[in-house]
Amino acid sequence: MVNIHPPWLQLADVPPRRKVAIIQRSLRPFVLRTYPNPMSSSFDGSGGAVHGARSDEILGSAEEALAYIKTIPPRQGASMQGVPFEKHDGVVRVGAIGVGGRGASQMKEMLAVEGMQYVAIADRDQGLLDHALGAIEAAGQPKPVVFGPGEDSWKQLCEHPDIDLVYIATGWELHVPMALYAMECGKHAAMEVPAAVNLRDCWAMVDTSERTRKHCIQLENCCYGQQEMMVLNMCNEGKFGTITHGEAAYIHEMRDSLLGPKAGVQPNWRRKAITSNDGNLYPTHGLGPVSWYMGINKGDVFEKMVSMSSPSAALTERRDDTTEEADPRRQEDYVCGDMNTTIIKTAKGRTIMLQHDIVSPRPYTRHNLVQGSKGCFADYPPRLFLDQSSDNEGQMGSHDWEDAGEGTAVMEKYISTSVTCDTA
Ligand SMILES: NC(=O)c1ccc[n+]([C@@H]2O[C@H](COP(=O)([O-])OP(=O)(O)OC[C@H]3O[C@@H](n4cnc5c(N)ncnc54)[C@H](O)[C@@H]3O)[C@@H](O)[C@H]2O)c1
Repeated sequence: MVNIHPPWLQLADVPPRRKVAIIQRSLRPFVLRTYPNPMSSSFDGSGGAVHGARSDEILGSAEEALAYIKTIPPRQGASMQGVPFEKHDGVVRVGAIGVGGRGASQMKEMLAVEGMQYVAIADRDQGLLDHALGAIEAAGQPKPVVFGPGEDSWKQLCEHPDIDLVYIATGWELHVPMALYAMECGKHAAMEVPAAVNLRDCWAMVDTSERTRKHCIQLENCCYGQQEMMVLNMCNEGKFGTITHGEAAYIHEMRDSLLGPKAGVQPNWRRKAITSNDGNLYPTHGLGPVSWYMGINKGDVFEKMVSMSSPSAALTERRDDTTEEADPRRQEDYVCGDMNTTIIKTAKGRTIMLQHDIVSPRPYTRHNLVQGSKGCFADYPPRLFLDQSSDNEGQMGSHDWEDAGEGTAVMEKYISTSVTCDTA
């Protein structure tokens, strides 16, 4: 399997409908595959590459890849951007697929939301279903319908008539088949990040959503962090002047978690992804907030990018240091470079540096940096540098950052104002 990674992807001539999907598809190598109709009997919901159930089509060159991304599938309905959700009197009924790591932790948050009810849950694992049932019961909600254990029980959940929204927290390759099926069954679909793992799947989501008139949502929670909301308010108020540059990342060392099982099973789907893909496999935790600061798709748009990876070393060395020689994981080849760095240029000429590294030993960061003509915010730790202004908020001439964390005046001031973040 050969992955083509065009060193310099020109997005300038790409039609706008495609551009959104290109960035959505995570700046990853061009791995394409055919997509069966989720309503047909041959649809297995396995998601392709991870389960090996589909034949992948690999593009041969950067030119072929560019030609492919310029091809727009015919629209199947009007845009869903800005279309309001239907009103609910009382309860929004959620069906959850995948109640393992993220699905279980998210359950705590969702159970705290008034007017939201888990009416159904599905998982392939009985122990995780039991655990989720206990949490729902402890929150005082009625017992949900349980689908599973089993690989295909999620389809019955999608078909259940009394569900408004299907929440998907499974491994990456399953997000799109599950979301498509949910929308075909008349439900809104919301999935964990990354929503999709290739361009074809991005279009399948857009087209199915526009045809079925159901929303399809990637749940990028990092856009709603305290610092991110504060910085967005400051950008909207012009505190940084003209925004010229941003930096974003997902740098999160997880070697031992990658080498271990996922929800009790081997191989770990996340480790498996880095045996077949090089590039940035998880771009939106960092890129989502910076895109909001810059008003991407609301007056500006990504136009060009260049992306390169370092060698791969840290996970292999950790594995070899911690496993026996006969361990089957010793046969694995981790092709994803430890650090991937992408530079994106927008139509307005702004630049973004985007990084991904989940194996090198270093503390967590998403960079979360925005630079403007009148100041800069950088995170991890949260800090600020502003030109001196009439309200004395700046420190022109100094080489020191100002603390912008919890309890500081700037946080109190800008977190308390309401955020306008119309994503339409
Ligand atoms: N937004 C965030 O901050 C955040 C944090 C962690 C994980 N995530 C995302 O959440 C998703 C899940 O990650 P995780 O770490 O919880 O993975 P996990 O492997 O721990 O959990 C996946 C769950 O899906 C279930 N599952 C797998 N196949 C299934 C099938 N065919 N039918 C029904 N259930 C099935 C598994 O049994 C498991 O319970 C991923 O997309 C990940 O990237 C997001």
